[in-house]
Amino acid sequence: MPKGTFGVTTPIYYINAAPHLGTAYTTVAADTIARYERMNGYDVSFVTGTDEHGQKIAETAEKNGMTPQAWCDSLAPAFTDAWKTLDIDYTNFVRTTEDRQTRAVQKFWSDLYEKGWLYKSAYEGWYCVHEETYYAESDLEKNEDGEFVCPDCKRPVRYESSGEENWFFKLSEFQDKLLAFYDEHPDFIRPVSRRNEIVSFVKGGLQDLSISRSSFDWGIPVPWDEGHVFYVWADALIAYLTGIGYGDPEREGEFERRWPMQYHFVGKDITRFHCVIWPAMLMAAGLPITGTVFGHGFLLVGGEKMSKSKGNGIKPADLVEVFGVDAYRYYFMSDVRFGADGNISIERMTQVYNADLANTWGNLCSRVFNMVGKYFDGKVPAVPSKFADAPNPLKDIADSLYEKYDACMADVNFTDAAAAVQELASRVNLYVEESAPWNLAKSEETQGELAYVLYNAAEACRILALFFAPFMPNTSAEVFRRLSLGAIDEVDDIKAASVWGQLPAGNDVEKGDPLFPRLDVKDIQL
Ligand code: MSP
Repeated sequence: MPKGTFGVTTPIYYINAAPHLGTAYTTVAADTIARYERMNGYDVSFVTGTDEHGQKIAETAEKNGMTPQAWCDSLAPAFTDAWKTLDIDYTNFVRTTEDRQTRAVQKFWSDLYEKGWLYKSAYEGWYCVHEETYYAESDLEKNEDGEFVCPDCKRPVRYESSGEENWFFKLSEFQDKLLAFYDEHPDFIRPVSRRNEIVSFVKGGLQDLSISRSSFDWGIPVPWDEGHVFYVWADALIAYLTGIGYGDPEREGEFERRWPMQYHFVGKDITRFHCVIWPAMLMAAGLPITGTVFGHGFLLVGGEKMSKSKGNGIKPADLVEVFGVDAYRYYFMSDVRFGADGNISIERMTQVYNADLANTWGNLCSRVFNMVGKYFDGKVPAVPSKFADAPNPLKDIADSLYEKYDACMADVNFTDAAAAVQELASRVNLYVEESAPWNLAKSEETQGELAYVLYNAAEACRILALFFAPFMPNTSAEVFRRLSLGAIDEVDDIKAASVWGQLPAGNDVEKGDPLFPRLDVKDIQL
């Protein structure tokens, strides 16, 4: 029986270009936590997808000489393929051009319309197509030519005045409710720096939000007013609900069971949509609100935000080819603290790979499995009874690992969770060094101690594989296989599974190839 449900989402990514390291970062983070909560026995929903409507996509499609739908269809596989390459085990992939999304969006907003949260009014104002965001004139910046530009992406903004009326959501009425909500739910916006920004933004007052457009037609039709389509954000946010069955008669009861979720993982540039507009929409609909919106930082290259135009558009698949998928995931999760901006580089990635994976985790498995092969005919030795109560530095660390790791995961602190596992891995390497099994093997008298040492080291490898699994699912599965253990994907109580001493004596152990062959940065060509 699952313990309950656990839900996490990534943003629903614009389909104007293939996924890059930034979008992959959020997606790997969501996958890491989703995998961990599965190992804790939760029934996990992990929703991701592609945001396919709006002016930006329509214009990108046009530039490429395609209809918007053909453009979206041609690019959607780039996302599903990239997520496959990165071993992303999502439960629901929503394309906002799917019928189920149309049904959900129309149902949601029709409900708000009926409840009186919408009104029609003339719209005029500044809009940035790249950010798909409205801006007040006071928020704009000017470029060298004196043109108004977007404060976020610095591209020129457009003044939109269709002369027609648009539908507005009464967002301004939610100022007090939102502030009270933030107060009562201190963990709703994380990290704290992001929370402070949002609180002061909302304190500054909220404008009603235009949720429909009539100047173009690439969007979901507003069901009660022909000629209008929903604003792309009024559409995309609903995908979180669509993913778990909202408005889907064939999935009755599922939405109620899975909503609200625990987390929306987003980049810091889109926290406002998720922390202001989205909870107000949910309040208006009378739906509960997600536990935490976690706004992570940006990946930087040479101190600047990584982007295609800056010539550092390395694809996730390029790095996977060199480092392997597990090392890719491990590097981004352990070395870029979730919540802060972080510099990435091939040099640093290689350094982390060699230090933590090739020299520590991979080396440890090779040494231990090799010695079990050599000294015990490839079978896990039994612990001789005289060692049953002997001091065991590895067990001591392993015994407290779940608690430490779980606290980090609950804090969405992947870096320290990985470091806690790494600490045990380093300790096992040191233990092997100190105990020198190759010397113990020389004398008949020390056979018992040799068995004890190698049992401990192999058992520590089993436990390490468990805790590394959310980060590096492939190598953990491989270590389980080499130790003749059952499928690691089936672990649904990692706390119980990580209790010391469960590696059965007598299990066949396979040495296998190095899990992480050493890399030299000079040989890496991208
Ligand atoms: N379509 C909207 C989201 C709708 S959610 C209901 C959108 N899409 S996006 O494709 O632009 O999303 C990009 C995501 O990637 C954002 O969370 C953004 O913060 C993130 N990143 C873009 N560049 C990034 C880095 N250089 N580093 C880390 N994340 C970055 O916004």
